[in-house]
Amino acid sequence: MKHLLKLQDLSPEEITEILNLADQLKYENKHKIPHRHLEGQTLGMIFTKSSTRTRVSFEVGMYQLGGAALFLSSDDIQLGRGEPIRDTARVLSRYVNGIMIRTYKQSDVEELAQYGSIPIINGLTDYCHPCQVLADLMTVREFKKSLKGLKLAFIGDGNNMANSLIAGGILTGMDVAIGCPDTYRPDASLCEWASKKGNLTITNDIFEAAKDADVIYTDVWASMGQESEALERAKVFKGFCVDEKLMSVTAKDCMILHCLPAHRGEEITDEVFEAHAKEIFEEAENRLHAQKAVMVKLMKK
Ligand code: CP
Ligand code: NVA
Repeated sequence: MKHLLKLQDLSPEEITEILNLADQLKYENKHKIPHRHLEGQTLGMIFTKSSTRTRVSFEVGMYQLGGAALFLSSDDIQLGRGEPIRDTARVLSRYVNGIMIRTYKQSDVEELAQYGSIPIINGLTDYCHPCQVLADLMTVREFKKSLKGLKLAFIGDGNNMANSLIAGGILTGMDVAIGCPDTYRPDASLCEWASKKGNLTITNDIFEAAKDADVIYTDVWASMGQESEALERAKVFKGFCVDEKLMSVTAKDCMILHCLPAHRGEEITDEVFEAHAKEIFEEAENRLHAQKAVMVKLMKK
């Protein structure tokens, strides 16, 4: 494993190794056992979109591993003024030991990896959000003990989260169901790949998707960069809401996960969100541990 660009690039064994290491790092963190695997190393963090969790968890994670992180907003570096990705990649490769990038186009992340000579980590694109889903898988394992055979249902937009959940869910042996409007389905070629490997259902009936689910997942109706579509999307997605009625058809002890930020009253009701806050905020914490594991795997000399 040289980079983390998208989850489909990983084998099930690699995912398990990351999750096991993440559990260990979480334990060491809790018990104040030093784990400075990246002593003296630096991570460049390029952000073309906003972030709370990704930015803070990568920066804190790098610090806890004995290294340092640099926040590089695209507004402040020459990338934002048109310096090509391929040049940015070759320059930064000479200063830092790894790059985390959050941006729009998946092809920009792939280009960074192609031209750079250091590990590249995808911190979200319009296509996928692999770091989030590694933390999600870690959280499900924590609450449910294992992943294989569980049913994971995603309700809402067939967006970056849906794509990564399909990849991560299928690779770890879960049955994945996506309840989304017909015009907002997840990436078609990814769905084809996933259907060959495992059990994937795409339906516009959220009750069919949620039936007997062990984990319900949802995300905002309008992602970053889609702000101008918010009104139109609110009309299409009305009804694609995780509420008590939907939860009544799931398996007993069904968990709810949300990558956050959440829009209460849209994709999830306030009551349901608060009833599952324990899982949702453990999931947010696990970003730290899962990403530390990814950085150790990719960057440890
Ligand atoms: N879930 C997630 O990636 O959060 P941020 O946008 O705050 O980084
Ligand atoms: N789908 C959301 C996820 C945010 C973590 C977005 O891309 O804005």
